[in-house]
Amino acid sequence: MTLVNRNLVTIDDLSNGEILALFSLVDEMSADMKAQYGLCRGKVMASLFFEASTRTRLSFETAMLRLGGSVITASDVGASSLAKGESIADTAKIVGSYADIVVIRHPWEGAAKVVADYAGIPVINAGDGGHQHPTQTLLDLYTLIKERQSIKGLKIALWGDLKYGRTTHSLIFALARFGADILFCPSPGLEVPQHVIDKLTTEYGGEVERLDASEQKDKENLFPVDAIYTTPNSPHQLAMMPDISAQVELKGGVDALYVTRPQKERFTASEQGQSLKMKYPVVNKKLLQGKAFRKTLVMHPLPRVDELAYDIDTDERSMYSKQAARGVPVRMALLAALLGVKDVAVPAVESPPPIDYPRYQQEPSPVCPNLRCVSIQETEAKYLKPQFKIVNTQPLTLRCTYCEHGFEPKFVASAESHEGKTEFKKYHSADSHWAKDIRLENLIAFHTEEDAQACGYKPSHFTGGHH
Ligand code: CP
Repeated sequence: MTLVNRNLVTIDDLSNGEILALFSLVDEMSADMKAQYGLCRGKVMASLFFEASTRTRLSFETAMLRLGGSVITASDVGASSLAKGESIADTAKIVGSYADIVVIRHPWEGAAKVVADYAGIPVINAGDGGHQHPTQTLLDLYTLIKERQSIKGLKIALWGDLKYGRTTHSLIFALARFGADILFCPSPGLEVPQHVIDKLTTEYGGEVERLDASEQKDKENLFPVDAIYTTPNSPHQLAMMPDISAQVELKGGVDALYVTRPQKERFTASEQGQSLKMKYPVVNKKLLQGKAFRKTLVMHPLPRVDELAYDIDTDERSMYSKQAARGVPVRMALLAALLGVKDVAVPAVESPPPIDYPRYQQEPSPVCPNLRCVSIQETEAKYLKPQFKIVNTQPLTLRCTYCEHGFEPKFVASAESHEGKTEFKKYHSADSHWAKDIRLENLIAFHTEEDAQACGYKPSHFTGGHH
């Protein structure tokens, strides 16, 4: 399939074959960067960065300038009309009439999807809150392939803030798709969100095995693994021998250690307080002396704070400067492909087909419980209708199509049974036997009984004894 005029909002927007085709173009462009000048002559890239950035913004702008195109920039909410209360949709429509492609970074999760829905030109997500950062994932994957030829079968440890680290969220899905095994090594309290784990296991078919801290008594090669994800074709030693210590798994070594900083700008007030006491793991020369790291690539999306010591910068295993430098050719190839100035021959490489989940269709609709979701912000809730996919029925689980957070509504009703008559408007516990008979196209979901009653519904006999 052609990449022309497509959006890149999440890493799901590109198949494995399309990613590999882009990487062939990156190789071609890297071989002679000067020869690419002029490919985007006459094209304008809008660079909208409403959150701090050094690498992503400057590498995108450099990429467009090296292709001979032009850049218009807004890099501060306070200096744009968003500060006057303009919605993201209105901003997107206007920018879409000025430019040929938009690159957007925004603190709200799902903001890039809103821009893609309204701009009418290709949109690239340069990071939306703690959700995803798909172009960082492209240059992370490109680095792994350049250094290790293939991603399949690699054992990759993700380290640090796996809760808010958006680069790790897009990377997790891509690594699973390319057949890597992933070790989660979060800082305490900053574990991978459940909705990411759920998507990983339901959509990529592997298994996540949580490890008991008491299993890791062996201080040799100490490495705080919290959980291991294994792709369907690679059962690991723990899966085969559950009573064996996690250290057995680690003694074989890890191929890459992907370190992230604590994303303090996204911490809740209580996490801010906790973070003062929290011992955030540090990767340094001493740690890398462990046997498990002999051939480990040390990766980091940057910026770093204290989690990555300066004493390993000159170590040949350190990849983070190379990752950042590769941002320019990777983004040049992406811009050229989406703008259709360069053909990309997509090889037939298998990707798991996306699951076509049923959509939540009825009114009223619950609101997304994620406080950072774009759909619940005051300026955006005026026009954005909540949108959910029904990703599970037992337990009933909805996933927001903007921020991808999942949640389990506690109460349900059927649009079919009440036929508009108040006396038939009854709600039930979502886990009741009655709830299971509701056809998904008729499903009405509520977070709480109060929400159901506020919409004129009365409790049935199947509310789990809550009334
Ligand atoms: N890796 C990355 O997104 O860096 P910046 O925040 O500097 O863009």
